[in-house]
Amino acid sequence: MIGRFGEYGGQFVPETLMAALAELDDAFNAARMDDAFQNQFVDLSAHFTGRPTPLYFASRLTEFCGGAKIYLKREDLAHTGAHKINNALGQGLLAKRMGKTRIVAETGAGQHGVASAAVCAMLGLECIVYMGTEDMRRQAPNVYRMKLLGAEVRGVDAGSATLKDAINEAIRDWVTNVQTTHYLLGSALGPHPYPTMVREFQAVIGHEARAQMLATEKRLPDLLIACVGGGSNSIGLFHAFRDDDVAMIGVEAGGLGIASGKHAARFAEARPGVLHGTYTYVLQDDDGQVRATHSVSAGLDYPAVGPEHAHLFDTERVGYTYATDDEALNAFHQLARLEGILPALESAHAVAEAIKRAREMPRDEIVLVNLSGRGDKDLQTVMSASGEQ
Ligand SMILES: Cc1ncc(COP(=O)(O)O)c(C=O)c1O
Repeated sequence: MIGRFGEYGGQFVPETLMAALAELDDAFNAARMDDAFQNQFVDLSAHFTGRPTPLYFASRLTEFCGGAKIYLKREDLAHTGAHKINNALGQGLLAKRMGKTRIVAETGAGQHGVASAAVCAMLGLECIVYMGTEDMRRQAPNVYRMKLLGAEVRGVDAGSATLKDAINEAIRDWVTNVQTTHYLLGSALGPHPYPTMVREFQAVIGHEARAQMLATEKRLPDLLIACVGGGSNSIGLFHAFRDDDVAMIGVEAGGLGIASGKHAARFAEARPGVLHGTYTYVLQDDDGQVRATHSVSAGLDYPAVGPEHAHLFDTERVGYTYATDDEALNAFHQLARLEGILPALESAHAVAEAIKRAREMPRDEIVLVNLSGRGDKDLQTVMSASGEQ
């Protein structure tokens, strides 16, 4: 069935959006086959985004763990500081191709909003970014960055004032202005074709990492690790390795611990449901109402997960675990001190798992971690968590 990953995915949207989704699906499929579009994407990925991003051997972190070699795929070095730019660039070009003049986007950590704003400025598109007011507080530098790049940031007070609520408002705007507007969704979630389309624009991460690993170590890694919010940086890394004998782990936000109920570990309490137009795993209460989530990292603080991950969970091709806020903060400090790299708090969840795993693996094995973004946006959060303000 179209847009399904096993039983997950689909299009659970109001009828007013069906035509827009069909138009988007057609445009995406045509663009995929069009050399001119692909060449433009590759050219701008090199000259605007700065691809390929490096593969970095974290020798001091490896030594510290005393086990498997740890490599980092440096998406933090992509333009605007995270992997989000890969998808924003792809969809921005697609919106232009469809003749749309206005972009709406949602953002949690602000990285997708900044990436969308930068791409819209570069392509001459109007850009409106919806953001929960709680996230605006946590990620204030990114709010200012978006404004500098010419975007209008609209605060959302509803619900928990985080990513889920921002997506609701962006969808509402899109329904109203669908003729002129493209909804630049920031992760591999939502109704078809978004999960597939976002994965394809992010697949560059895995393709590069695979080739770089073969060039450096003359072999594939044993284990891939990436954090999972909506699921785009992880699926972008995993996709190129799907048919290889390589283990994969997705790391969700364990927040204050599963027992506390304050987390965003969707697979720790595996229960399927529908949210934002797709059938997937959703954190919900006994009545099926979407539950409030918590994470120190705004980009992982979301109650559902991209539907392809739901399928990968059921089929056990990918293992899913979580890191708590404290574990992520510790990993943030460890990477900073040992490697001179401040990771995004989202990425620090993946680093936390790498530290645990590498210790238990032999020295001739290799762990590849996707460092999805840089931590400058999180300095305020880290300072207050460390009691420094
Ligand atoms: C740096 C960074 N990493 C990871 C994520 C999580 O999103 P995804 O699971 O789509 O990669 C975000 C989301 O804002 C982010 O900013």
